[in-house]
Amino acid sequence: MSKPHVVVMRRIPEAGLSLLRAAADVRVWPEEMPMPRATALSWVAGADGLLTLLTDRVDGALLEAAGPQLKVVSNFAVGYDNVDIAACNRRSIPVGNTPGVLTEATADLAFALLMAAARRLLEADRFVRTAQWHTWMPLGFLGAAVHGSSIGIIGMGRIGYALARRCAGFDCRILYHNRHPHPQADRLGAELVSLDTLLAQSDFVSVHTPLVAETERLIDDTALHKMKRTAILVNTARGKIVDSMALYRALRDSVIAYAALDVTNPEPLPADHPLLTLDNIIVTPHIGSATVATRDQMARLAAENLLAGLCGERLPFCVNPEVYDV
Ligand code: DGY
Repeated sequence: MSKPHVVVMRRIPEAGLSLLRAAADVRVWPEEMPMPRATALSWVAGADGLLTLLTDRVDGALLEAAGPQLKVVSNFAVGYDNVDIAACNRRSIPVGNTPGVLTEATADLAFALLMAAARRLLEADRFVRTAQWHTWMPLGFLGAAVHGSSIGIIGMGRIGYALARRCAGFDCRILYHNRHPHPQADRLGAELVSLDTLLAQSDFVSVHTPLVAETERLIDDTALHKMKRTAILVNTARGKIVDSMALYRALRDSVIAYAALDVTNPEPLPADHPLLTLDNIIVTPHIGSATVATRDQMARLAAENLLAGLCGERLPFCVNPEVYDV
């Protein structure tokens, strides 16, 4: 019997690829840049399974191009806003994601960004590299204290809670905004509050919601004007949750003090984007889950989801379990 045919839309760690190769005929896009759309539409033709990335648009046209034999889409990410779930449901295609394994790495990065912005690390580093450091400066690079500050977490899922744990270790007051109370929030003394209260009272606001219609541009002009003038905004979730031009204006006009973004809109952020003309912002290239161990685990999980789907078994991590109800 011939092996199922799998298309992997970009190189992922061997930890996942080797699992796939043992069971399937695997074709991997070898380039550093994502597959151009036209190429993707032709590459997926005849595939039984697709291993996609957050840079791939998985919509009706892609599923159609793959053909009726397509059994599973496995997304190499916890977020799946790149996948048209309704289109997958119409074809009864289960979609997998990689939750859990990237929680700590992403919370680490959120906390690193928070610290780096608070203490202006990148500005200070640029200052040294450009030979401007002439003496110890009593008034130089004054930043914000993290210890004992108020942190507002928008979206208290796994990653939001992991960040809250870190902040509790810094004696922070933790406010969070979520649809439901988090079952372990009390352990950290975290308070569930309205979004307005969180914005008004937090020294740091960190975004951890998924990108859905209700969270797109959640942080807009109005939200930014509700924040403290000294506030620092951190986003490690999805770029479209923050209105980039509203943020630019807020940082330029000192409506808020600083921002640290691992995700942007657009993504990638062009080098000539207005945000990058400012000193009071740090931007990293969507590296929240970028540790060796985490990416290996994500690759394994993505492969396991894909292999389960090929065998007609329930995916270990399925974002549209409704396909199994039919
Ligand atoms: C995700 O998994 O959704 C992150 O954004 C990338 O690891």
